[in-house]
Amino acid sequence: MRFLQLAFIVALTSGSAAILIYITGVTNLYWPHQLSDEDFDALQSLHSDFQKCVSSNGLGLQAVSGRDLCDVTLKFPSHTNSKWMDPKSGEPEGLSFKFNLCEAVATWEQVRNGTTILTKEFIDALPNGWEDYAWQRINKGIHLNCCENKTLCMEKLSLVLPETPPYFPRQFGRCAVVGNSGDLLKTRFGKEIDGYDIVVRENGAPIQNYTDYVGRKSTFRLLNRGSAKALDKVAELYDAGKEVFIIKTTIHDIMAKMIREIPIRNPVYLMLGASFGSAAKGTGLKALEFALSICDTVDMYGFTVDPGYKEWTRYFSESRQGHTPLQGRAYYQMMECLGLIKIHSPMRADPNRIVKWVPDHSTIAAARIASEKVLRRVGAGSADPVGACSIVKKQVKGKPIRISGLRMAAVEHQKYVEGSTMYPLEHNPGHGLLCTVPPR
Ligand SMILES: *[C@@H]1O[C@H](CO)[C@@H](O)[C@H](O)[C@H]1NC(C)=O
Ligand SMILES: *[C@@H]1O[C@H](CO)[C@@H](O)[C@H](O)[C@H]1NC(C)=O
Ligand SMILES: *[C@@H]1O[C@H](CO)[C@@H](O)[C@H](O)[C@H]1NC(C)=O
Repeated sequence: MRFLQLAFIVALTSGSAAILIYITGVTNLYWPHQLSDEDFDALQSLHSDFQKCVSSNGLGLQAVSGRDLCDVTLKFPSHTNSKWMDPKSGEPEGLSFKFNLCEAVATWEQVRNGTTILTKEFIDALPNGWEDYAWQRINKGIHLNCCENKTLCMEKLSLVLPETPPYFPRQFGRCAVVGNSGDLLKTRFGKEIDGYDIVVRENGAPIQNYTDYVGRKSTFRLLNRGSAKALDKVAELYDAGKEVFIIKTTIHDIMAKMIREIPIRNPVYLMLGASFGSAAKGTGLKALEFALSICDTVDMYGFTVDPGYKEWTRYFSESRQGHTPLQGRAYYQMMECLGLIKIHSPMRADPNRIVKWVPDHSTIAAARIASEKVLRRVGAGSADPVGACSIVKKQVKGKPIRISGLRMAAVEHQKYVEGSTMYPLEHNPGHGLLCTVPPR
């Protein structure tokens, strides 16, 4: 308690309420929540549904519970051909992968209620946001082409960012995320894909000449660094100006220059993502993350997920080296069995296929609360919609929410969060959020 008082005085003297909230949020870490009987039951029933789901859908995969309530190991059958050799050890990729179910439930449920678009409002609200976050974002990991004129780079970044997020949770209904796997050529999914409300594609994936397999519609395109550098080429892939580009990578001077100075008509946004650890990276997963933050349901096509699929190709080009392909497949299977996505692949091509044993809404809701407690997340188990926020800021420029134009589900959600916007704080202990709340 004395610590809190001290924090309060510090906050008063520094005049920063955000710091107080930040510190109280973090102190939760030192007083772990008691798990109630309901919490244990919720996690147990999550595990039990999850195991049944994996064995009924995983085409040979099995889920085995680990030592604690969160551990789960996904095992491929022993005859699985492991194609990928670890370049460091020279060993083939293993056949079993350990995941933390609590982490997955808590983090993905947060993704569904937050925004994945980087805004000015976010950087303004972050303590020292422009100097630290924005500066790192421009230069991170880059030795070539780093920003030489700080003022100029900041100005460019500021030019490309929207003030507030352009999209809301649940703004769209049924969404499809289409990957680039060569196995897309095995099934004519084109018509089915065109039936979704929005379609998210990745990098330089062409549409023309492949429409029977990949459909014609395209709403968003998620770009990694390589594709973003060739923004003008990507812009030519689809009806000029019609796709919205979401760039997932950090940006540097050259990219900022391209966004403004080459004549493309597409809207361009930068992605702000949650971090999921090494099991989950790459453009495919980021595309799912983006879709989950704006859609009711997310269906996945064109990811190499079937067991026994040996080639590692793109539908429009020759084979390329993949990374830990089996681990990725297991991760997607986990997402399907948590009810986050539905997988469509050559072996799961029936559009009416039902994923059995997906934990229902109330099981997920209860397991999410229990998971937050186990993980000692900021605001764990709180009924307050902004309970998980370790930084809270009033929106400075009153945000006119276009509530009238939104789908019912999005309006309901806006009411629940009382108009606040939740941003993931990537490297924050307890995975707190930065939230902006409307002025009262
Ligand atoms: C950096 O950019 C700013 C804004 O465009 C300009 O005024 C300034 O002269 C530049 N500084 C250097 C050292 O080039
Ligand atoms: C489609 O096929 C035509 C004829 O083979 C070719 O000229 C064109 O470049 C192809 N388009 C794409 C996007 O691959
Ligand atoms: C997300 O929002 C819904 C209401 O739209 C709420 O029921 C749910 O508890 C929220 N989840 C989290 C993790 O805040």
